[in-house]
Amino acid sequence: MDRECPLVSGGTPVVTLEGVRKAFRDVPVLRGVDLTVAKGDTFTILGGSGSGKSVCLKHMIGLLEADAGRVLIEDRDVTHLSERGWVAERKRFGMVFQGAALFDSLSVFENVAYPIREHRNDPEERVRERVRTCLASVGLAGIEELVPAELSGGMRKRVGVARAIALEPAVMLYDEPTTGLDPANARRIGRLIRQLQQELGVTSVVVTHDMELCHAVSDRIALLRGGRIVVEDAAAKLADGRHPEMRAFLEGTHEALPPSIEEQAEEDSSHV
Ligand SMILES: Nc1ncnc2c1ncn2[C@@H]1O[C@H](COP(=O)(O)OP(=O)(O)O)[C@@H](O)[C@H]1O
Ligand SMILES: [Mg+2]
Repeated sequence: MDRECPLVSGGTPVVTLEGVRKAFRDVPVLRGVDLTVAKGDTFTILGGSGSGKSVCLKHMIGLLEADAGRVLIEDRDVTHLSERGWVAERKRFGMVFQGAALFDSLSVFENVAYPIREHRNDPEERVRERVRTCLASVGLAGIEELVPAELSGGMRKRVGVARAIALEPAVMLYDEPTTGLDPANARRIGRLIRQLQQELGVTSVVVTHDMELCHAVSDRIALLRGGRIVVEDAAAKLADGRHPEMRAFLEGTHEALPPSIEEQAEEDSSHV
């Protein structure tokens, strides 16, 4: 790739969205999203509810296909990859969905073992060992035989993370990982995201509107509004909240902001 990526903090690009557009029933949600997640970084996408954060994540793992623009994984164009191609690509991703999305009727052990059994043909002892390691990484050693109903919300979330790291992903995607958690458990999730980055060198994309989590984990922050990334910078540069778009988001006046000049120009041209 000979394109210049001035926004990248140094590492090589792992996930890139280039001018991604997506509409549902003619209602545009993404209107040209550009972002680059660099290797080893934790990249946080902020945005109001319904702004398209989950839609962005779903483009990164082929759960949605862009109407226009490109999606790259490293330097591979995966925009219109076949489902078969995605099965291979997704092995490198761990996804923590909104809500823990555990199988209620399966034990914690079987939940974490699930992706291993799906994708690998490991002997049982190897599966057990991997499940133990993953549960220990999220601070939940010894709860293998419990079922999700016996766990607190925070524990369920961590089991979701344990399952997501079971195949040793290079990239972790977290969709609102602290929603519904009390502050202590939310902080724990933040520490876990950092720990996976530091110990395993995992690249992460975090979607949230939890500012405490955002400050705790982010290397870079992007703010999604009106279907575009309106701010993208190093977390340290945005920490003081002085950027006008960031401030509006933090003050909750974001959605009330008039569209940017560029958006207005586009609206106008689409009506001629
Ligand atoms: N599969 C879908 N079909 C139709 N509309 C969708 C679909 N996925 C998302 N949307 C719509 O796209 C918008 C953005 O959704 P989403 O990305 O989930 O928002 P959020 O930023 O809260 O994660 C919402 O208006 C939602 O209703
Ligand atoms: Mg969402």
